[in-house]
Amino acid sequence: ISLKPYNTFGIDVNAKHFVSVSSEEELITVLKNNNYPKKFILGGGSNMLLTKDIDALVIQVNLKGISILENKNGHALIKANAGENWHQFVLWTLENDFGGIENLSLIPGNVGSAPIQNIGAYGVELKDVFHSCRAIHIDTQEIKTFSLEDCRFGYRNSIFKTSHKGQYIITSLSLKLTTSAHQLHTEYGAIQNTLNEKGISKPSIQDISKAVISIRQSKLPDPDKIGNSGSFFKNPVITDVEFNNFISKHPEAPHYKVSENQVKIPAGWLIEQAGFKGKRFGDAGVHKNQALVLVNHGNATGKEILNLANTIISTVKERFGITLEQEVNII
Ligand code: EPU
Repeated sequence: ISLKPYNTFGIDVNAKHFVSVSSEEELITVLKNNNYPKKFILGGGSNMLLTKDIDALVIQVNLKGISILENKNGHALIKANAGENWHQFVLWTLENDFGGIENLSLIPGNVGSAPIQNIGAYGVELKDVFHSCRAIHIDTQEIKTFSLEDCRFGYRNSIFKTSHKGQYIITSLSLKLTTSAHQLHTEYGAIQNTLNEKGISKPSIQDISKAVISIRQSKLPDPDKIGNSGSFFKNPVITDVEFNNFISKHPEAPHYKVSENQVKIPAGWLIEQAGFKGKRFGDAGVHKNQALVLVNHGNATGKEILNLANTIISTVKERFGITLEQEVNII
């Protein structure tokens, strides 16, 4: 079957076999089935670039359900199953006035993928509200609960991308959210500006979500209309020595100190300066409002997107001496 509807880049590759599972029991049964030794796990398909047909059994993790595990002393422990759409889950928390993930509104993908890359935006990362997640080991079918410490979250990173890569399927997530005295994160410039424009001085979590939604809609392409996987690259972190050399040549470059001797440079700026913003090569392109996002204008193949990514990497390297790293998983 074609995987085009199952990846937000809208890449048309085929899967040899496909099954959708809606409970842990079903998932375990499918994993135990030895007729298909090769298995490929699919969540929301929002952080992958498919470059070839998948010669395996594709398992779509479609476990649904949201529940309140605990609600006391200003906090609620909320469990969401892996197949819930992330943004629909955020909206559910806002309807119930649970605070903590309003800044993460409109991030594409499913709940189960969120911990893998520690999704983040506008001053908040999943790790800030993460309690634990449940996961099934692909080979042994053992069920394990991973705590916040177990996951070793970093910038767009966790053990599910490093030591435990490809070993587990996340089936649910538990988050610790606030029910009163919400901790608002409005320090991000664009949020502040949006709230000011609307004349909101005492924002609610719902106001912040609306601000984030309008910022994202103005900058980021809607995957339902134009295929993409959000940021294609990570923002590079360079040493202070490299930074001094870089900034003397490009004094206008935006930058953020991330530690005593490390500085982060926005990849979107580097790519724009390298002349790629809004450029199109066949159906593979760079988004016109945010150069960090590669887009599929219709029928681009995964290889065409990958070629564009590689051209960007080498041009940025030549021009700035900085090596960009992909954020998206290349398959
Ligand atoms: N910039 C440019 N040109 C561009 C894009 C950005 O010059 O085409 C400059 C901006 O002017 C600004 C700076 O780069 O000074 C930062 O831009 P922005 O605020 O848009 O954020 P970002 O660093 O490019 C990161 C995340 C996004 C997240 C935003 C907001 C990564 C890889 N990306 O982008 O995450 O939404 O911050 O918090 O960290 C995603 O992961 O899919 C994603 C969209």
